[in-house]
Order: sequence, then structure tokens, then C-alpha cells
Amino acid sequence: ANVSDATLLADPAEKIAAVGGAAHPSIPLPIRLYGDTRSNSAGIDLADEQVLARVAGGIAAAAPPAPIAVDAARDVAAAVAAAAKAFPAWAATPVDVRAAALDRLADLLERDCEALMAICVREARKTIPDALGEVREAVDFCRYYAAEARGKFGTLVLPGPTGERNELRLEGRGVFACIAPWNFPLAIFIGQVAAALVAGNSVVAKPAPQTPAIAAAAVRLAYEAGIPADALRLVTGGGEVGDALVRDPRVMGVAFTGSTATARRIARALLDDETRPLVPLIAETGGINAMIVDSTALTEQVVHDVITSAFRSAGQRCSALRLLLVQEDVAERTLAMLKGAMDTLTMGDPADPATDIGPVIDAAAFDRLESYRQSQRPRWVYALPAPDGEYIAPTVIRLGSVAELTQEWFGPILHVVTWRAGDLPATIAAVNALGYGLTMGLHSRIASVATLVTETAHVGNLYINRSMIGAVVGSQPFGGEGRSGTGFKAGGPHYLLRFVHERTVSTDT
Ligand code: SER
Repeated sequence: ANVSDATLLADPAEKIAAVGGAAHPSIPLPIRLYGDTRSNSAGIDLADEQVLARVAGGIAAAAPPAPIAVDAARDVAAAVAAAAKAFPAWAATPVDVRAAALDRLADLLERDCEALMAICVREARKTIPDALGEVREAVDFCRYYAAEARGKFGTLVLPGPTGERNELRLEGRGVFACIAPWNFPLAIFIGQVAAALVAGNSVVAKPAPQTPAIAAAAVRLAYEAGIPADALRLVTGGGEVGDALVRDPRVMGVAFTGSTATARRIARALLDDETRPLVPLIAETGGINAMIVDSTALTEQVVHDVITSAFRSAGQRCSALRLLLVQEDVAERTLAMLKGAMDTLTMGDPADPATDIGPVIDAAAFDRLESYRQSQRPRWVYALPAPDGEYIAPTVIRLGSVAELTQEWFGPILHVVTWRAGDLPATIAAVNALGYGLTMGLHSRIASVATLVTETAHVGNLYINRSMIGAVVGSQPFGGEGRSGTGFKAGGPHYLLRFVHERTVSTDT
């Protein structure tokens, strides 16, 4: 359920005039409603009743899928050895052939879209629209990295003022460890693997311990698409498997998405062994993501975008909104409307197409979030009632200052802090001081405010007058700075460069 479109189409000019903003140049954007999931791939039509019935039937019928033969913790070394052996032949495979395999994988993901969605719903507790978003984003990653590799990986001939022939080649590094999170168990899993493979690496991939089945299904499709079995090996398990993997000296690079603490642990593991090559860690980690709202913002749209950004996917996106920073003058009105919009949210079984918010990923996450939520009870502005089960009720908590929020709470818990006119630079500085830098939202109709935020906020992805989740591959390269990640951004034109060696060959002619 959404705030109605009609209320969103109110004229912002009136609001700007009402706060004296007419004197400033205003942002000439029409107000637009973005869907929660956009992508370059078509996906399936969830508005079609027959499609929806088939998906729901598939979810109900699907037995938990039997994982393919995976390597247990003790077999990490064997998986790395197999991938190391497969590396030279895969690296020598022309880039066009590697890219064609990714394009075939994209086609197969589309072919099996409904079955993959069913696994995402069952295993990762995704809502049906979120499960579709997974498949579409995975398809996008395959096609985008295939196209990027074709464009980038030819031999570059550089000027030779001294008469030599100078070539720059991009080549795979060796075995890449790809360690994926449970919150995008298909899209991020496939994104990492596709990038590493197309760049000429062999891969040992480790999904999160909560979501091995969707990863196994994806790997099966990769084999069907023509990726040699030893060029892509799957290992499953928790931290001890991850440790064994990144500590294996044959691993020549790590792509990791997960917590900042785990990224640090991996970085330490990569550096511990003095005899080991220096290898890159591409880490995409957490954030304390803020949305700034000034008094010129269109409240209806703010509320729509807050609901989407903070509560959709049960707040389990690294991009999700955690800290709403609203100008004092419009705070009460904004919060009143937010409560009304929260009341329209439906919590329940993710397999039910009417569900907006499902349970969180597992009992451990539920316990952590619920005990924090209860500890904050005196500061609640509003909380929905939650059904029985591992559901975290969407909750709004008022804080006295930005600095009071010291960690990322990975669920549908929104914190609110108000700021006074004139305090915006200090408010941005306080967010920067939290040390993260993933996403930020801004709602304002004043161009100079947008410029100020754009120029002074230390974030990887800034979203102005829209929601702050759902980056689109190829259009909105995604990733943070500071404690939020190393870069380069996933789904962007530089990402593949972290996966290769550059080799210069100069020949006297
Ligand atoms: N890429 C996702 C998004 O943009 C976050 O993990 O929401």
C-alpha cells in the first residue's frame, strides 16, 4: 500500500513560496514517483494475475532445493586448488567468449526467473517484488559486466615516442574469493562472481550461511551457461569457512559485501602472512544512512520515500535509511503523515503478494533488533504492532542528536533528529563524523541546498527528491566510502578494474 499518487502530485512551487524560497532558484524537477524496483531487464509482470498465481504456487510447492555438491569447511583448500588449476585456461579464454557466457547466464536467469524467485522467498524471506528485483539485478550485472569487459579488455596500444611498441593488457589475477551477503543472495552473489569471471579470474564463491540454496541454483545455471566447473567453485558455511578461504595464499583477490567488522577481519587476514602477494580487497560494507528534509520538501513525497527507504525489505538493505534529519518547522507535520502511511503497511508472510514487510532474516537478527528496539521504548515516536514470529515492527525513534546513533541497525528501525534553519552545514558535518559514507537522501526544492549537500556530504550515493534504495546497474553505480567500503562501485564503469592485473609490454621495434 502506498501514499496515493494524487497527493504526491501537489505543486511544490506553493511550498517553496510559503517558506520564502521563491527568492532562491528552485530545482526544476517534476515530482516523479519511482517504482521500488527499476532495472534494465524486463523481469515478469507482477500485475498479471496469472503470473502472480504461478509464482505463489511455485513458492508453496517448492521443496527447499537440494544444493549441488558443495565443499564443506574442510574442503576449502580443495576448492581453491581446483580453481587455481582452472585459472590459466580460463584466463586464456578470449574475453568475448567469457562475456558470451555471462550473456547466456543472464538469459538462463530470466528463463528460470519464477523458480529463482521462489527460492529467494523461501530461503531469504524476500517479498515477491523484492525477489523479482533480485533476479532482474542479477541479470543486469551479467549483461553490464559482459559489455564492460568487451569494451575494456582489448589490448591498449600506447604512444611510443621512442619508437617502441607499448601495450597495456588487463589480465585476470588468479583465484578470486567472492563472499556474498544474505540480503541480496542472488544479485550481489552473481554480481561479484560475474565481475571476477569476466575479468579472467577463476572463483571460489562463498554465499552467506543463511542463503546457500539460491547460490547453488545460480552456480548450476553458470555451469549450464558454459562456465567451466573448476573455474567457479562454491563453498558454503560461516565465518570459519570464510577465514580458511581468505587465508589461503593462492587466493589473489577478495570481493566481499557484508559488515565493516568482517571487512577489517579479512583485510587483516590478507596482510598477516608476510610471504603472500599483496592482493586487493573490494569491500562493500555498512552505513548509517541519513535523509535530510528541509521545509520546502513536499511532505507527501518525503513520506512515500521514507517508507520505501526505511521499511521496505524490512530495512535489510545496506542502502536503507536509518536517520531522518528533518527541519524543525516541518517535523511534526512530517511525522504525523508518516504515522498515517505506516498504518497502511501490511506485515506478514512474504509469500503473500499483499505483504509489504516480511520477517527479518533469522532468529539471531530478530533477537538483536528486538532487544535494541525495546531498550529504546521511552523514545519511540511510533511503532506498528507486529504479528507473532520473527517480525520487527517498523518503529520510529526520536534522538536528541546525530551523534547518538553509533551503529547500523539492520532492520526497519528509523531514527529521527530535527535541525533548525541555519544548522544544515553542522548537521551534514555531524553525519560525516559518524564515519560511514554509503547513501544519503535529500528532499529540498532549493538548488543551493542541493549544491551544499552534494559538495559537503561524504557519501557514495546521494539521492535527491526520491527514495534512497534500489541503485540501478550501469546507471547508478553503487558503493560507499569511509567505513562503508573501498570502491570501486558495483555496477559502474570502474568496478572490473579492481579484478585485474595491468601489464605493460614494451617492445623495441
Ligand atoms: N544495491 C542496493 C540498493 O541500492 C543496496 O544494497 O538498494
